[in-house]
Amino acid sequence: MHGLRRLEYRGYDSAGLAIADGGELVLRREVGKLNNLEEGLKRAPLTGNVGIGHTRWATHGRPTAFNAHPHTDCSGQIVVVHNGIIENYLDLKRELSDAGHRFESDTDTEVLAHLVESLYAGDLFAAVLAAYRRIEGTFATVFMHRDEPGKVVGLRHGAPLVAGLGSEEHFLASDVTAILDYTRQVVYLDDGEVVVVSKEGVRVFDHEGLPKVKEVHRIDWNPAAAEKAGYEHFMLKEIFEQPSSLTNTLGGRLDEREGRVFLGDLGLSEAELRSIDRIVIVACGTAYYAGLVGKYMIERLSRLPVEVDFASEFRYRDPVITDRTLAIAISQSGETADTLAALRECRRLGAKTLGIINAIGSTMSREVDGVLSLQSGPEISVASTKAYTSMVAALLLLATHLGQVREELADAVVAGLINDMKRLPGLVKQTLETADEVQALAETFALSQHFLFLGRGINFPTAMEGALKLKEISYIHAEAYAAGEMKHGPIALINEAMPVLALATRSSTYDKVISNLQEAKSRKGAARGTVIAIATEGDRAITAHVDRVIYVPGCSELVSPVINVVPLQLLAYYTARILGKDIDQPRNLAKSVTVE
Ligand code: M6R
Repeated sequence: MHGLRRLEYRGYDSAGLAIADGGELVLRREVGKLNNLEEGLKRAPLTGNVGIGHTRWATHGRPTAFNAHPHTDCSGQIVVVHNGIIENYLDLKRELSDAGHRFESDTDTEVLAHLVESLYAGDLFAAVLAAYRRIEGTFATVFMHRDEPGKVVGLRHGAPLVAGLGSEEHFLASDVTAILDYTRQVVYLDDGEVVVVSKEGVRVFDHEGLPKVKEVHRIDWNPAAAEKAGYEHFMLKEIFEQPSSLTNTLGGRLDEREGRVFLGDLGLSEAELRSIDRIVIVACGTAYYAGLVGKYMIERLSRLPVEVDFASEFRYRDPVITDRTLAIAISQSGETADTLAALRECRRLGAKTLGIINAIGSTMSREVDGVLSLQSGPEISVASTKAYTSMVAALLLLATHLGQVREELADAVVAGLINDMKRLPGLVKQTLETADEVQALAETFALSQHFLFLGRGINFPTAMEGALKLKEISYIHAEAYAAGEMKHGPIALINEAMPVLALATRSSTYDKVISNLQEAKSRKGAARGTVIAIATEGDRAITAHVDRVIYVPGCSELVSPVINVVPLQLLAYYTARILGKDIDQPRNLAKSVTVE
């Protein structure tokens, strides 16, 4: 239960466990938060020393006890828990049903139990290995069999799985924080590996069943710094966590095979989504900038008009809301007073409501009709980083879903979007390799009094987010402008003391941005080397127009805000570090602003 609690950020709409108890596998599953499962266990305790557990956030099938994990086969001899998505589950379900298997849930996970049942001939490891050859998708999954009570078999394919080597006890978990209180010796599983945990220890095999020798890592973080994972600051840790936080946001929601996204927790039917005629997004700070990116995405993919408002302003402008409006509140904490107030106003005026929220069990998540949970894990640093990229990714999921439900997107377009989203965590990982170059940039400009960020189109909000990051942790005055607006006034500010950073990656507005940069460069400051570009890898031509370039990997325009913001986060971080600022807790700020 303690380990599950550490993983609750991944999902909390239902939970369950299975324990090998006196020759039987005993199952407990409850809808709602872990407390419900815990209360049940207090009333009727279980005994046993081998078990598996899971906390779920619904994708396939509503949050009910039947859909909660663990799932079982027909005989109740096999139990399984699973994170991720089994993309060919419908084919497998059909095949297994035809062979006489009876299904009790709407989940993709249950097919795993029946598939292993159909392949079982007295050896769970062999059956899991055989099943692995039949399943497609992204998953980490763990099995037990009644007749092999001292054994747990796990499989990793695209979703995290880590083994913990304890003293007289061993563990498997989807995040190391779940087991850190019990052991510091861990083995990180790689994709395609099968792991057998038993009294004898932890044994790892490749996908053909051949034994592998794995490195044992010792985790030295003390419990207080555990979440810091060895980084100097939470902010840096959270920046570097983005490949995995994005995997958590996107992972189980993309079905390449069926060509669709799963937003099981949306709480709004397809008919309701078709009946909407307008979307209003309310949010504050970084979440507001994510909302601005979302506007581009939703309008482009679903053709629904979208307004984005500072939540603090929204209520005071007598907004036009009807019962055909979908109001979306975006918030990391789910507790921001202004956003909550705006949300309540939307509800009062009859709108349907959706929360794009990170914090589990927050007030906002309990007051909306549906939640698109970010699942990016706890964000400790006051300056938001990983929650922002997850918000943008979640908005792309939503925009794709809306476009599909409203029949605005051809299948090929959806397939392309799914592919772009699948590649995103890897591209962010690549972008993080710019850290040293960005640090060098910070060293050049840390003593600047001002900073100007320019962007256009979907990356104008990226410029705003970059300026906010720099302001809030380094206290340097930074402003963001839509590059095309410069000539209408702000260009007068340009001088040698004003570094200009432009988002100039390949996009539909690339040529326009280059013209805007030429305008800036022909002004006084540019001659002194103050124009910096974030550009696409391979774009050598841009060096003719700017003085410094940070290259980021090429990607489609719709996902580019997630990539492009990464060097801006790093720039803010390194600048504040050089200036010796209190990075994780900047002056005058709080992580969660619960007052209006
Ligand atoms: O928890 P929320 O996402 O609702 O918070 C909104 C803003 O207060 C927050 O994004 C703030 O702007 C951050 N400090 C930005 O880094």
